[in-house]
Amino acid sequence: MSRPGRPSAAPPGRRHRAPAIGYFVTGTDTGVGKTVVAAILTLGLDAEYWKPVQSGVDGPAGLSTDSECVARWTGLPAGRLRPEAYRLALPASPHLSAAREGVSIRLPRLTLPATRRPLVVEGAGGILVPLNGRKLMVDLMAQLRLPVILVARASLGTINHTLLSLEALRARRLPVAGVVVNGPANGADLAANVAAIQHYGQARILAVLPLLPALTPAGLRAAWARFGGKLAPPARGAGKAGA
Ligand SMILES: Nc1ncnc2c1ncn2[C@@H]1O[C@H](COP(=O)(O)OP(=O)(O)OP(=O)(O)O)[C@@H](O)[C@H]1O
Ligand SMILES: [Mg+2]
Repeated sequence: MSRPGRPSAAPPGRRHRAPAIGYFVTGTDTGVGKTVVAAILTLGLDAEYWKPVQSGVDGPAGLSTDSECVARWTGLPAGRLRPEAYRLALPASPHLSAAREGVSIRLPRLTLPATRRPLVVEGAGGILVPLNGRKLMVDLMAQLRLPVILVARASLGTINHTLLSLEALRARRLPVAGVVVNGPANGADLAANVAAIQHYGQARILAVLPLLPALTPAGLRAAWARFGGKLAPPARGAGKAGA
């Protein structure tokens, strides 16, 4: 059974209630289902959700940001969603969205928010997406040190994208909790894709998720059942102050 990891120590000089546990949800690409999976985990683990860097905030009302999607789909109150550290208008790679606004994303500003629950953190795009002139999303993952959940498509091309992503994570020695294969296979051999990811990627498959009929709390809870206890909810109180 996978054990969520402990984050790095709080920055010096700051009173910080560190969350004891959580996961970093990344993906093989943009639009692969990171937010859907993060919403499932947030409900399933009774967690809080945090999107540190949001690129693109001008979508349809109530669904314009990933935090808004998670709130809408889970029905959780606003207090379960931590505010983004960077909200950038342009829906592009964070380094470009930030540059457009004359902003430089600073990693020291991206420390884990204090929570009493586990924390589900969602990246932006994939693993090697640039955050600024020097740092990539994987550098933020290395800084936060949460076990990583990789969301992959079910369809054709996913084996290559998933193996590349796993290599990038392992090159940084990041803890990988496992892979979620998400969405329709679009005619591909789903079982063969899943088996290949497991075999060549030496990765645990946490769940295989179909296109959910409804992104509602009931739909998300049904999807959580597909994880089959592989990401067990942490013991209550594990993330309390001073833990
Ligand atoms: N398993 C699923 N069931 C139903 N709908 C899904 C599923 N996975 C993804 N979708 C749909 O695809 C859209 C894109 O998925 P999602 O927003 O989770 O991707 P993402 O990887 O978080 O994208 P981004 O890189 O923009 O953060 C969702 O808004 C949702 O409508
Ligand atoms: Mg998302």
